This record gives sequence, structure tokens and C-alpha cells, in this order.
Amino acid sequence: MLLFIDSADIGDIRALADTGLVDGVTTNPSLVAKSGRKFEEVLAEICAVVDGPISAEAVATDYDGMLAEGRKLAKIHENIAVKLPLTPDGLKACLALSEEGTPVNVTLCFSPVQALLAAKAGATFISPFIGRLDDGAQDGMELIREIRTIYDNYGFETQILAASIRSVTHVRLCAIAGADCATLPPAVFKSLYKHPLTDAGLEAFLKDWKSTGQSIL
Ligand code: E4P
Repeated sequence: MLLFIDSADIGDIRALADTGLVDGVTTNPSLVAKSGRKFEEVLAEICAVVDGPISAEAVATDYDGMLAEGRKLAKIHENIAVKLPLTPDGLKACLALSEEGTPVNVTLCFSPVQALLAAKAGATFISPFIGRLDDGAQDGMELIREIRTIYDNYGFETQILAASIRSVTHVRLCAIAGADCATLPPAVFKSLYKHPLTDAGLEAFLKDWKSTGQSIL
């Protein structure tokens, strides 16, 4: 499963990219607003740091506007995936941009049939929002499982990019359900490393090693 960072904070992205385990980045208008940065500048910086798909969301809501914004965003870097909302105009623009060779990440997906439409529209990625469904007392993970089944039934190549992830458990269940990618807030990414038995085991090994009086180098 590919691991993306869900952030527009170049400091966080740089630090995590240094792990060598980051496969891409997703941004959205809220994350850009939170960064306080100019959209195009921060996108160019992210593309220079992470060599993988970088999602940049259009904000127009009509077909012509999405097409124009998508084309402009795609010119920033070859790794840009234009993010478009799951609306009739969004999917129409998805078809057009995909036919031009621009990867599209269809966002704000909350149902399996929406995901089916996005795949038919040639989306490179579909972003089901797990956490927001869970927040509303629905089962976000069931959405991932159903999309996986539908895509496998018909051989759709659209990649399931699990989004709105809130916890390590979400990441684990997405991997088990066969999501192709997951986009993680930086704090969740950092938590993936953690287990109390790892810390306790390491401490005990180092203590015992010290008692031998040896050194490897
Ligand atoms: C996905 O691409 C979105 O940027 C993001 O995952 C939304 O997450 P949220 O529900 O935590 O805002």
C-alpha cells in the first residue's frame, strides 16, 4: 500500500520524506489555507521534495472552470494529480483531463456507486473519506471494502486512495481491505512506528549489551 502525506505543511512533508517511506502527498483547500502559503509556491516545493503523485485540488465548481484550473495546476509539475470533487461537472472534467493524460484524484467520495462513476470517468485515484463517515456514525471501512470488490469485479484500474484517516487502526484496516494507497496526517504517519513492546525490548537489549562491555565498531 502506498503511503501519502495529507498536508500542505512543507516542514512536516520534508521531515517525513526524509524517512524514504513517503510515496506521495495530498493537499486540499483547507490544508492550503492552514499553511498560510501561496498555493502554487507550496505545490512546487512539495514536488521538489517528494517524487510521487502530488494532489492539487481545483476550486472551480463548473466544468470549464475545473478544466482551466486543472490544466494550470498540471503545468506546475509532471507529478501533479488534479483533485476534482465527485459532482457531475467534476466527473466530466475528470474524463477530459484524463484523456489529455493528466492524472485525476476524484475527492469527496462517500458511497460505492460514486466510486463506480469515478472509475468509469477514468479517475487515476478515488478518495473515499473514511473518518468523516465514521464521525457521522457510519462505517468508513465498509466503503473501502465495497469499492475494492466493485473495482475487482470489473477490472477497474482506478486506485483506491483511502482519505480522511484518523488513526493507526484506520491504516491497518485499509491495508487489510486492499486499499491501493492511504493518505495520512503527519501525526498518524509518525504513530505507525510506535509500539510499547518495541521501546521496552530495545531498552532491555541495550542494557544487556552494555553489560558485555563490547562494541561493534
Ligand atoms: C483527502 O485527500 C483529504 O485531503 C483529507 O484526507 C480529508 O481529511 P479530513 O476529513 O481529516 O479533513
